[in-house]
Amino acid sequence: MNQVKKTIAVLAGDGIGPEVTHVAISVLEECATAFGHRFEFVELPFGGIATDLCGEPLPAETLEGCRKADAVLLGAVGGSKWDSLPLDRRPEAGLLGLRKALGLYINVRPVKLFDSLRTISPLRLGEQETIDLEIVRELAGGIYFGSRQISGSEANESASDTEVYSVKEIERVALYAFRRAAARRKRLASIDKANVLASSGLWRRTVERLAKGFPEVKLDSLYVDNAALQLVIRPAQFDVILTSNMFGDILSDEAAGLVGSIGLIPSMSLGNGTALYEPIHGSAPQLAGKNSANPIGAILCAAMLLRESCGLHREAAVVEKSVEHTLASGIRTPDIASRDLRAVSCSEMAASIRSTLAESAMETEKYGWGV
Ligand code: IPM
Ligand code: MN
Repeated sequence: MNQVKKTIAVLAGDGIGPEVTHVAISVLEECATAFGHRFEFVELPFGGIATDLCGEPLPAETLEGCRKADAVLLGAVGGSKWDSLPLDRRPEAGLLGLRKALGLYINVRPVKLFDSLRTISPLRLGEQETIDLEIVRELAGGIYFGSRQISGSEANESASDTEVYSVKEIERVALYAFRRAAARRKRLASIDKANVLASSGLWRRTVERLAKGFPEVKLDSLYVDNAALQLVIRPAQFDVILTSNMFGDILSDEAAGLVGSIGLIPSMSLGNGTALYEPIHGSAPQLAGKNSANPIGAILCAAMLLRESCGLHREAAVVEKSVEHTLASGIRTPDIASRDLRAVSCSEMAASIRSTLAESAMETEKYGWGV
């Protein structure tokens, strides 16, 4: 058996970040035991909690620890306690700073409807219809990183943010999205607002030019307002979606809602160095400390980490199947519970996923998951 030894930097962060991250670690540990791998976890301060401890959301030692690690597992940042700080000192600025410093310009958010959750989707889907798409969000440029200004005061106050994209920034993320689509159902939807924004015009021209190198991929360019509508009325048409930093942020929350809960969606960020994995749900301060958050987004991050940063495809598939199996047996956190199913806690959900994982690793025939 090919044994793997990896160091994983853990940035649990704020709100429900620590709860979901620690159960994701427990799943990775279960996996290490079942398959004979070794993971070393290095916890580092990050986000609001790091501001409290060290005076800044992204301390130098945290960044250094991420650079040295084989992968980063992140929880979430932010909370009302830090909301009155100026934008550049808030926990969210630490997250943007980390993405920039690690050169993470690609963010992949897979959104897939679990069969057992069809009834909680807010959509009335036909029996044959499903949702299985990936959003490739540009992560290191655009309006989240352009210059910001506030001037004047009171009735004369004004504020601005700037969206800037260069050909190179568009090309590097678009090439990745084309390759991702080529390996899936070969459809790419590039989403912009080229009827209004100059940055979107450049985006569209660049993506359409690159399409010539991928004749097997069918490219459609859509305006973001229409894309938001199409996602709701006919989500099955989407395979890979490529879009800018801000549009990707917005559309990924919308898409998450369609499959039942934002708590289910993982993400992976790639670029020049260490890859980073974080669920997309954010810190959800109202749930923090209650052991009721949905850990599936974080656990699916662990699966992506196994596949993409460790080359452990089989182990990743077993984690994903264990999640599917647990949901199919009716185990639900409150965000995805329905009237007839009692909700379990975050740690109970994780325990069930872990025990399915351990059992399936031993009883290959019963589960037949290619273990
Ligand atoms: C996300 C989050 C972040 C973002 C915030 C917390 C800065 O909403 O990862 O989707 O906007 O990227
Ligand atoms: Mn977001």
